[in-house]
Amino acid sequence: MTTFPIEKIREDFPILKEKIGNNPLVYLDNAATCQKPQAVIDSISHLYMHEYANVHRGVHTLSVKATDRYEGAREKVKNFINATSTKEIIFVKGTTEAINLIAQSFGKTNIKAGDEILITAMEHHSNIVPWQILCKETGAVLKVAPINLQGELIFAEFEHLISDKTKLVSVVHMSNALGTINPVKAIIAAAKAKNIAVLLDGAQAIPHISVDVQALDCDFYAFSGHKLYAPSGIGVLYGKQALLEAMPPYQSGGDMIRKVTFEATEYNGLPYKFEAGTPSIADVVGLGAAIDYLTAIGMDNIAAYEAELLDYATEKAKGIAALKIIGEAKDKGAILSFVLDKIHPHDIGTMLDSLGIAVRAGHHCAMPVMDFFEVPATARASFAIYNSKQEIDVLMNGIEQLIEVFG
Ligand code: ALA
Repeated sequence: MTTFPIEKIREDFPILKEKIGNNPLVYLDNAATCQKPQAVIDSISHLYMHEYANVHRGVHTLSVKATDRYEGAREKVKNFINATSTKEIIFVKGTTEAINLIAQSFGKTNIKAGDEILITAMEHHSNIVPWQILCKETGAVLKVAPINLQGELIFAEFEHLISDKTKLVSVVHMSNALGTINPVKAIIAAAKAKNIAVLLDGAQAIPHISVDVQALDCDFYAFSGHKLYAPSGIGVLYGKQALLEAMPPYQSGGDMIRKVTFEATEYNGLPYKFEAGTPSIADVVGLGAAIDYLTAIGMDNIAAYEAELLDYATEKAKGIAALKIIGEAKDKGAILSFVLDKIHPHDIGTMLDSLGIAVRAGHHCAMPVMDFFEVPATARASFAIYNSKQEIDVLMNGIEQLIEVFG
């Protein structure tokens, strides 16, 4: 792909035609959640209009069609992240539920008093709190590898914290607050050298870079659909088959069983053992459509285009004296977190909104990152495949305007 087809892509997202007040929408809050292409919206409508019934439960035509769509989407996810089998693809509500599943199922089975779980100082709350709860329940200890002022993991310190007691390393692939892309191959190699399981929180990485779980050799990979142009309420936990086989169910009820009597229950095989109850059928189908959409564009093309956007935005931002970028890792995804002299990030967010520009202002569910950088919050512009350099110009002009008025 020589030129990224940005105009065509923008046409695929109906919401981009919306106005905020009198201004065209400039949507730069994609790390919180991103907008949906018509193909995803249509796939859901089509299912509800023509093919909807419960899955795995009926012999009637509609149930068979819905099951085919649902399981077809699982195959698409498997191919998208290069898992070895659809048995390794568990549908969950999102990254948060995936991490909680690992904490409660893998954690309670494999982690005991005195054992250690190693994370980094740039984790989202969803990769901190489940481990704190597990540590309280089991007597295990949470260790935190530090970061530097660029927002990068200090790898030597991380390696130093791996010990004979470490039972799990759980690390964010790309930070939602800083944009940092972690050296996950080196992290996994260091953990594997000591036979330690590794979970990657891929919520932010998955829409921006091509992910190959076999090449990474991670044990678990978690991500959400809603940041991948798919509906909210659906996500994926990838796990190596042998590990998932050995883990007990996380929730129980219908569909996760093979045989139930009042005396005993035999669990279903993978992946159904971890999918109790009627799943989010239409959202899974929407996730499959989002994967088709992205695959047609090409994840490498997406990564290259977004790198261009980030470089452009970073250069412009550096030209604004009152602006300080928070997070300047060498390896970074399409996120620009910043603060402005004398203007609170919440005011930045509100004032940019009055110009039609949507950014997130807050702690981004990463309070320890804010503490480390000694800021109460940041403003964060996060980019997606439909954003353009013109929109970045609109953002930067908006920032200049508000510095002039309030700075
Ligand atoms: N975790 C999401 C964010 O970074 C909601 O905004």
